[in-house]
Amino acid sequence: MDDSAVVEMEGITKSFGSVVALQSVDFTLRDGEIHGLVGDNGAGKSTLIKCLAGVLTPDEGTIRVRGRTVTIDNPRVAKSLGIETAFQDLALAGNLTVTQNIFLGRERVRGFRGLFGVLDKRQMRARAEELLADLEIGVDPDALVRDLSGGERQLVSISRTLLSDPDVIIMDEPTSALSVEGAKRVLDLIEQLRQQGISIIVISHNIEYTQRIADRIKVLYNGMDAGDISADGVTRDDIVARMVSGRPESESASSQSTA
Ligand SMILES: Nc1ncnc2c1ncn2[C@@H]1O[C@H](COP(=O)(O)OP(=O)(O)OP(=O)(O)O)[C@@H](O)[C@H]1O
Ligand SMILES: [Mg+2]
Repeated sequence: MDDSAVVEMEGITKSFGSVVALQSVDFTLRDGEIHGLVGDNGAGKSTLIKCLAGVLTPDEGTIRVRGRTVTIDNPRVAKSLGIETAFQDLALAGNLTVTQNIFLGRERVRGFRGLFGVLDKRQMRARAEELLADLEIGVDPDALVRDLSGGERQLVSISRTLLSDPDVIIMDEPTSALSVEGAKRVLDLIEQLRQQGISIIVISHNIEYTQRIADRIKVLYNGMDAGDISADGVTRDDIVARMVSGRPESESASSQSTA
């Protein structure tokens, strides 16, 4: 076992009917690192992280969290292990406020009137305000989410994951469809969270952003492992070669033909 590993996934296989979404994929997340996860559409990225988030159960394979073998068969188990996820299809409700969205599904309740608790709106608002201020996210906790820009929504959706003080945050395409400026704020936030000691998995189609923030990059190709590479020194061409052929640039057909 790798001592610095927070999460180790080994031999993860998952099929949907006849579609093999993942075929014996390994993935290790080390303490305090930002680990990029790239691959073409349908490569299996979301499936892999859903297995860690407890949304899907792998058909085969082992998951260890801080060295202990675990069965993450629902999202509550993932959260109890300190693993939070900001999913690809942002599950924010436009007609609710930022505070309401941050607490969606985990509303704070105070006192009891008969059988029913009363929502502690003041406490939730104060906590949301504090969370946004800590992260230097200049968004009004009372604003309706539908009035926010795409980038601001993404920041809110990431700040939601921080409520439970997680060890690990998984982000599925946090910069997709964002302007350059919006993406920059999200990347800065990811770096800031790492400095707080959180280990982060970032799925992205954007190779440039991934290279900029990640320490290591895992490439998936057609459900298969196409390498785990250090972001330092790797070229964009090598990443692209692995994404489209499953092999490093040095072994790809085009470089062999010129060799
Ligand atoms: N719930 C499901 N039922 C059936 N097939 C699925 C399901 N989820 C994923 N798949 C299939 O598994 C494969 C991997 O999908 P996945 O969503 O993990 O890809 P991805 O790498 O996240 O792609 P994208 O970049 O488009 O988000 C695809 O062929 C997809 O169609
Ligand atoms: Mg996906």
